[in-house]
Amino acid sequence: MHSTFETDITGLDTTTELYCVLGNPVTHSKSPLLHNLAFQTHGINAVYLAFAPGDIGKAVSAIRTLSIQGASITLPFKESVIPFLDRVDDTAGNIGAVNTIVNKNGILTGYNTDAEAVADSLVPLGIAGKNVLILGAGGAARAAAFAITSKGGKVFVTNRTIPRGQALARSVNGSFLELSRIMEMDWKPHVIINATSLGMKPNENVLPFPGEFLLPEMIVMDAVYTPVNTCLVQTARKKGCHVVDGLSMFVGQAAAQFFLWTGIVPDTELMRKAMIQENT
Ligand code: ATR
Repeated sequence: MHSTFETDITGLDTTTELYCVLGNPVTHSKSPLLHNLAFQTHGINAVYLAFAPGDIGKAVSAIRTLSIQGASITLPFKESVIPFLDRVDDTAGNIGAVNTIVNKNGILTGYNTDAEAVADSLVPLGIAGKNVLILGAGGAARAAAFAITSKGGKVFVTNRTIPRGQALARSVNGSFLELSRIMEMDWKPHVIINATSLGMKPNENVLPFPGEFLLPEMIVMDAVYTPVNTCLVQTARKKGCHVVDGLSMFVGQAAAQFFLWTGIVPDTELMRKAMIQENT
């Protein structure tokens, strides 16, 4: 199908700057779509490619050697990339994961824009002083837990692997709760964030917890964006909850990366439309 968001390469020349995503595997990544669209929309002579290195240390050396101006870092390198960088900003250091590298005059600094994306989606809805239940304890959950804590929310964590969930809860002065206990509690959280991969294709008919747990006054955020309308998103909408879908987090983290690289706030609505078109 012809896409409205195809990349035009006619302007590439010897001054074209290079950006990339490093992940392994990386073929599924939608980051090239979003960043090439933003470079084109803003008339920036740059191109964004995807690489799947076997060795992240060598890939970081290549960033230096080839003067690659910036990189997105995805699974499985978000933690292992850190020792190869010159600096890590406070948020990424606290989370212990980097998803963005900025190359400024040969100095490589690591950032984490996942936390910013969660905060940007939820702060306007009011999370200070609220009880926020995070499902999961991987990278997305850690970024969410840090973002919520730094904005004054109270974090509760539940996770399939209990010690991993407990460690995350401890690291943000939150509390760990077993999922079976949460279902029986006489209080309910104000906000629920699904930061597990439950509901992701090809297992899209899965809810991370029983739908009866949802109340209309809850805010429900899903980090899963394939599909955009996950089973959780559909169920929460039916219940009347305020729903923040996975594209908010994915587009938000990409927009924050683009800002770090260029100083420009990209059009997130355009990015969102490109993602929806790509998925249909
Ligand atoms: P990411 O960095 O994208 O968050 P991750 O580190 O693989 O990815 O974390 C995935 C999260 O989804 C984890 O919390 C994982 O639970 P475990 O810590 O027990 O592995 C959770 N998860 C994945 N599949 C799950 C399943 N079938 N049931 C429950 N939780 C699941």
